[in-house]
Amino acid sequence: MDKWITQEKLCEASEISAEDASKALDRCIAKVEQALLCYGGLFPGPASVKNFYIPGENRSWTTGFFTGEVWLSYENLPEGRKKDLFLEAGLSHVDSFLERIESRTDVDHHDMGFLYSPSCVAAYQLTGSQKGKRAAVLAADQLITRFQEKGQFLQAWGEMGARDNYRFIIDCLLNLPLLYWAAEETGKPVYRDIAQRHIHTAMSYVIREDGSTWHTIFMDPVTGAFDHGATCQGYRDGSAWARGQAWGIYGTAVAYKYTRRTEYFEYFRRVAGYFLSHLPDDLCPFWDLTFGNGDETSEPRDSSSAVIAACGMLEMSKYLPEDTADYYTGMARRLMKAMTVHYQSTDPKEAQGQLLHGTYSKKSPYNTCTQEGVDECVIWGDYFFMEALQRLLRPEWTIYW
Ligand code: GLY
Repeated sequence: MDKWITQEKLCEASEISAEDASKALDRCIAKVEQALLCYGGLFPGPASVKNFYIPGENRSWTTGFFTGEVWLSYENLPEGRKKDLFLEAGLSHVDSFLERIESRTDVDHHDMGFLYSPSCVAAYQLTGSQKGKRAAVLAADQLITRFQEKGQFLQAWGEMGARDNYRFIIDCLLNLPLLYWAAEETGKPVYRDIAQRHIHTAMSYVIREDGSTWHTIFMDPVTGAFDHGATCQGYRDGSAWARGQAWGIYGTAVAYKYTRRTEYFEYFRRVAGYFLSHLPDDLCPFWDLTFGNGDETSEPRDSSSAVIAACGMLEMSKYLPEDTADYYTGMARRLMKAMTVHYQSTDPKEAQGQLLHGTYSKKSPYNTCTQEGVDECVIWGDYFFMEALQRLLRPEWTIYW
């Protein structure tokens, strides 16, 4: 047995139909409605426990995703009482996000885009919410305070300038659309300028020769030069953490969207190519792409990587010549077929999340993360599953990123 799916088998895998995508999205919306009743204004945690989320305050880096699910549902509902309920819920979340950024509660990190794009930028786009706009601009202001001139990057975590935290991570590419949005809305070029400089640094170092990616890159705080690559949530330093690779796919697509630099398509092609050639036969990546067919009993999957990658491929397809676009759209459709048939949770008694078998952080002897949410639903997996379905059903959809 081959460790990873062959190109031939991948091309033979079936693609999701519009009808199946529509049914899958309806099932998601029904779950969001139930979850809203159950959370009573609170937010689900990053990962479920036995497939059910523990609701809590708006504190983690992941709370924007559930609000994003609310807005995606809202967009798909016909006018009426139910739509109004989603509107009310989404706007009350915006109040919470505004309060959070104004009070600087747990915002000393770079994940402002993950928090504020699917919640507050979406609210502003869809309803004209001025609170959403204000919150998102404040979040962009917070994000640019993490820019390090020496090295030209947005520092991900920890005390600013500390040597052991003088690094950026591949995930940050999805935080940058917030800065482009803020530049557009405020007319101030500083946000775009910082995003551009971070992208340039990230593209220079995160992609390895074979198209696999580093999760984190340490820079030298004295000289600003590249120091070394390392993993935090991947299996080991030189391996490809599945979700980092997926953030790389979506991240290079949005980098292209905002900069139109043709070399970014080449980066996208290499990163997506590595991802697609390191999938097991059922198309759901293991948590690290080191693992493949035969590792089913010892290693968990990360279904969230498949749906993030699908969103990235669908985004990039918008800018490509027809035949290349068809290739990536077809790959996204195959990933989504596999996800809806084998990984979407349809039984509310089995799971509260949308997508089963995600992995937040798995401890290995060689990485530095704390273990959490292994083989569980993860809230961004649920959100990007819905986003990918939305993209398939409405290619003209205005994205929140
Ligand atoms: N951005 C953190 C993660 O993907 O787990």
